[in-house]
Amino acid sequence: GVDIKRLRGDSGLITLDPGYKNTGSTESAITFLDGEEGKLMYRGYPIEQLAEKSSFVEVMYLLLEGELPNETELARWKKTLNEYNFVHDRVGKILNAFPSEAHPMGVLATLTSALTAFNPKAVDPSKDADMYHAAARLIAKFDILAAWTYRKKYDLPLIEPSNDLGYVGNFYQMMFKKDDSFEVNQTIVDALDKLFILHADHEQNCSASAVRLVGSSHTGLFSSISAGISALWGPLHGGANQAVIEMLEMIKNDGGGMQKWIDKAKDKDDNFRLMGFGHRVYKNMDPRARIIKKAADDVLGQLGIEDEVLDLARTLEEVALKDEYFIERKLYPNVDFYSGIIYRALGIPKEMFTVMFALGRLPGWIAQWKEMRQTNQPIGRPRQIYTGHTLRDYVEMSDR
Ligand code: ACO
Repeated sequence: GVDIKRLRGDSGLITLDPGYKNTGSTESAITFLDGEEGKLMYRGYPIEQLAEKSSFVEVMYLLLEGELPNETELARWKKTLNEYNFVHDRVGKILNAFPSEAHPMGVLATLTSALTAFNPKAVDPSKDADMYHAAARLIAKFDILAAWTYRKKYDLPLIEPSNDLGYVGNFYQMMFKKDDSFEVNQTIVDALDKLFILHADHEQNCSASAVRLVGSSHTGLFSSISAGISALWGPLHGGANQAVIEMLEMIKNDGGGMQKWIDKAKDKDDNFRLMGFGHRVYKNMDPRARIIKKAADDVLGQLGIEDEVLDLARTLEEVALKDEYFIERKLYPNVDFYSGIIYRALGIPKEMFTVMFALGRLPGWIAQWKEMRQTNQPIGRPRQIYTGHTLRDYVEMSDR
């Protein structure tokens, strides 16, 4: 901390905390996580119970409204989602204007922002009822955008949404339907549902903080969420799930054994890190990683898939967790370590992994935005410690 003087003679204190490692930005009643114990709860409900008993659509409601829905509330929520289950024709045209090499996360962020133009009423919902509908609109349209980023990337015709399959089933069909012989594979839909629940919120992480900070200027919901998507894209955040698979494939193809990569990750002169390891808050096993590891075993078993990469991931975890470097720094597998392995088994390409994360995280981002607006948070505006030049005179071009 450093004392500063303001112009009018009063003084204040700035705490300098790069990366906000010890700075709380808000009070929140949505998600609790205990990094030492490796515990995570949404609205007080343990993630393990929600993953086992709940559904993604129910968890959306829980995060947004604060309570599990009763039958009537859940039916109304599903009906509202169905009502908004379409996008304007022109959204497809905007999508088509992208080159197919575009990363799906960039396309998703742009299309989400573009939704603002087609849904002006949902841009800045201030009343409770408006908020309910704005959230439903965005959630109902987001899975269409997410699936379509994939169709675009692989040059496949767009599949229109359907109200018959439920939220996750509809998404799955829009992603994967090739012809009339397509059938929904319930094992895959159930696995996706569970993954989306596990990703649905994680308190003040980088992308949720981006959503809150952008939204704190009273910019609209959709553009705030677009900022969150961009934040999630980075390999130190949600982009790690793609990076994990790329790393495991690299280790496999290299054929040089595991220790070489562990040593590289420990070498401070080398930028390589074990992707999917470590977390700002968890200093214990990420509880989501534990559930996903088990789900990866189950899903691969049910689909009859043997994946060398899963075996490699298990060995890497074992070796790293016995290594003094990782023990000392409390570096454990995080949510991204095993999620990519399931996505791969479900036939989802690497470039889509972070889009899957965004789809799961959307209700959490909206809940954070809603809480931020409803508790009248002030505009987010951090301070700084200036380290540049002191006052100096402008230098004429001829003297430079
Ligand atoms: N491999 C090797 N060393 C690591 C790793 C890793 N994956 N993660 C942290 N470390 C080391 C650091 O080098 C540092 O060592 P030092 O004390 O000797 O300097 C120490 O552990 C602390 O790491 P920080 O970078 O200070 O921790 P921070 O909280 O800033 O970073 C992060 C957390 C970004 C997740 C980091 O662990 C990382 O880069 N992991 C790999 C990327 C990843 O998996 N990201 C997904 C996170 S989960 C999510 O966003 C959904």
